Amino acid sequence: MSEPVTYEQHDSILLITVDNPPVNALSASVRKGLTNAFDAAEQEPSVKAVVLRCEGRTFIAGADITEFGKPMQPPALPEVLAQLDTLSKPVVAALHGTPLGGGFETALACHYRIAEASARVGLPEVKLGLLPGAGGTQRLPRLIGVKEALDVIVSGRQVAAPDAMSLGAIDRIAEGDLTEQALAYARELVDASAHLRRCSEMQADTVELESGFFDTYRAQIAKKQRGLEAPQVCIEAIEMATRLPFAEGLKKERELFLERLSSAESAALRHVFFAERQAPVVADLPRDTPKREIRRVGIIGAGTMGSGIAINFLNAGIPVTLLEMKGEALERGINTIQAYYDDRKAKGRISEQKADACFAQLTGTLDYADFGDVDLVIEAVFENMAVKHDVFARLDDVCKPGAILATNTSYLDVNQIAEATSRPQDVLGLHFFSPAHVMRLLEVVRGDKTADDVLATAMKLLGTIGKVGVISGVCDGFIGNRMLKGYGREAGILLMEGASPAQIDAAMSRFGMAMGPMTMGDLAGLDIGYRVREERRQRGEAVSPTDGAVADRLVEQGRLGQKSGMGYYRYEPGSRKPLPDPEVEAIIAQAAKDLGIERRDISEEEILPRLIYPLINEAAKILEESIAQRPSDIDVVWINGYGFPTYRGGPMHYADSIGLASILDTIKQYQQRYGDIWQPAPLLERLVNEGKCFADL
Ligand code: 3HC
Ligand code: NAI
Repeated sequence: MSEPVTYEQHDSILLITVDNPPVNALSASVRKGLTNAFDAAEQEPSVKAVVLRCEGRTFIAGADITEFGKPMQPPALPEVLAQLDTLSKPVVAALHGTPLGGGFETALACHYRIAEASARVGLPEVKLGLLPGAGGTQRLPRLIGVKEALDVIVSGRQVAAPDAMSLGAIDRIAEGDLTEQALAYARELVDASAHLRRCSEMQADTVELESGFFDTYRAQIAKKQRGLEAPQVCIEAIEMATRLPFAEGLKKERELFLERLSSAESAALRHVFFAERQAPVVADLPRDTPKREIRRVGIIGAGTMGSGIAINFLNAGIPVTLLEMKGEALERGINTIQAYYDDRKAKGRISEQKADACFAQLTGTLDYADFGDVDLVIEAVFENMAVKHDVFARLDDVCKPGAILATNTSYLDVNQIAEATSRPQDVLGLHFFSPAHVMRLLEVVRGDKTADDVLATAMKLLGTIGKVGVISGVCDGFIGNRMLKGYGREAGILLMEGASPAQIDAAMSRFGMAMGPMTMGDLAGLDIGYRVREERRQRGEAVSPTDGAVADRLVEQGRLGQKSGMGYYRYEPGSRKPLPDPEVEAIIAQAAKDLGIERRDISEEEILPRLIYPLINEAAKILEESIAQRPSDIDVVWINGYGFPTYRGGPMHYADSIGLASILDTIKQYQQRYGDIWQPAPLLERLVNEGKCFADL
């Protein structure tokens, strides 16, 4: 393998190049190579200045995350950067792509920085449950100011090069070839005998900081980034930059970094980082599977989902034809999309020109004949098999050969839907989450006959529309909604046993869920679940009397959730604040009485496993049936689709972290008490018997 760090002399300048694909991460071999190159720069008298650049798509994008948790190979990054900082010759960092984390810290240890205008710098360590561990918390506040550094480090956001230049983190934007410009910059510095502008020798300016500034900031962030430890540790380290000499601050930063590295929060967030990148890889689909061109998309149904789905494609610059049954419904959908762009423009999130260009790509129609030229259709009509069958039969008549036909169904059998066509190989599920233009998750449902190139095209499309996708097999509710069933069921039973909606929501919110199940039900609309249960009853399927017992009674009394001003809670007009309602208490008590359920005090300790363990148990069944490809895919679904706390790594990672044996034990106790709705998944039993965890699968 070629050397990851090379250097060559261009007259008096030593040009050091890092080449460690894919993102030039700071692996041990890169750190070693950099040390050698810096030694060479120091020792060669004819070298007067240094340029540090990278090959490939980006300047160093950070420490090598795959090395975390393993024994550290010397030299450690802080040592390498200390050598860089104290070099006796000026060093210019030439930045392109995404100089992030340890990569940006390397740039900060250089004496000058030049960047391509498209580069984006940042210190995203906080998103991995860490703090910058190679001087970022000590150098950045000294260079750009304390408040500015806090914002960059605590948010972990990427900063575009021109903005970074306004902040003072970058000295120049390269107008032409980056390497040429960087070499020219280095020559200028030599000619001007410029001093070595070391961040380590600067003072963090505290003049602007009002008294109690850090405490106030800490409290604000604790509220905003609920449950997360890393942002608080970042603040602590930055505060030290204002109090301690550089070397001491650096030492303390390193201690905190090593502590964070072994924290459960960081392990969970790193797990999610890799899980999201692995999710789109379909195990049995060769990487070189051909893909179909998607130049125009058709969407059927301009309701809640259809209009949101359309926005995804319009934002990606792909023209959309939106089809409805009636003019009024079409107009409503188009108005929703127009209102979205108006709002984005008003908030300055999108330029007038871009918004208009996106919206101009939308065409509305009532006529299926207009779908003759679309490459992909996504159906988002009512959740009813007969309606879906009718729609797919029509699509089969009008769509050109090779068009991909997708359904956004939440629960229905994608294979049965495909049967309505003469081309089941072109059919799959694309299950978006609501609001479809906001939620990152997409479940890609692979039918029994879905062709490989259809699946490969869908997986590629995820990147185009900025989604994180997970493959699911066909089953009732796919991965996410299937798991949701047990979670909702237990919440309903707990209500009848004596817990209040607010008590259940508070427990789940403290666990870190974006919202509790009752608030979520009120937001989504309780009528959705009601209709699903009604359909099941009509199809003659068994629905347990406790399943949805409270929700059904609420719906029957017109309590559909926020949209009707009342559900599990009541809402003041125009307000989304859930208020406890004695009427709901009475409905719950009556339901309990009807079903012979004895009421008692429920503790928070009971609520958590009662709701979370059904998720884990159902997930084990899903894995066993190969509905999900791998445990980490299930984590991706629940984090991105259902608000599961990222810092717990998703239900599978969480299960592993508390131990499968104790979970199985509790499930068995519930089985004795409540019967076979708590039947343990055979996979869970097998893993426990073999002393394994989900991560071992
Ligand atoms: N270490 C190891 N591998 C990394 C990596 C890293 N820091 N960053 C990315 N990769 C890998 C990915 O896993 C992926 O591998 P795969 O192809 O086998 O799945 C490959 O590089 C490409 O990554 P993406 O698919 O994410 O590519 P994009 O072009 O979409 O994004 C990126 C590139 C913006 C650099 C993005 O990968 C990213 O955000 N990376 C993480 C950056 C980061 O968090 N850096 C800080 C690390 S912690 C640190 O530096 C500690 C220091 O303070 C001491
Ligand atoms: P909705 O009721 O808001 O919209 C459905 C639209 O489809 C209506 O505008 C209706 O006029 C139109 N429609 C019905 N039959 C049609 C036909 N034959 N031809 C053309 N248009 C027709 O429903 P929503 O919520 O958008 O759901 C649509 C689909 O998406 C359902 O299958 C649902 O299960 C699924 N889904 C819903 C989610 C949600 O949170 N609302 C989340 C994920 C999936």
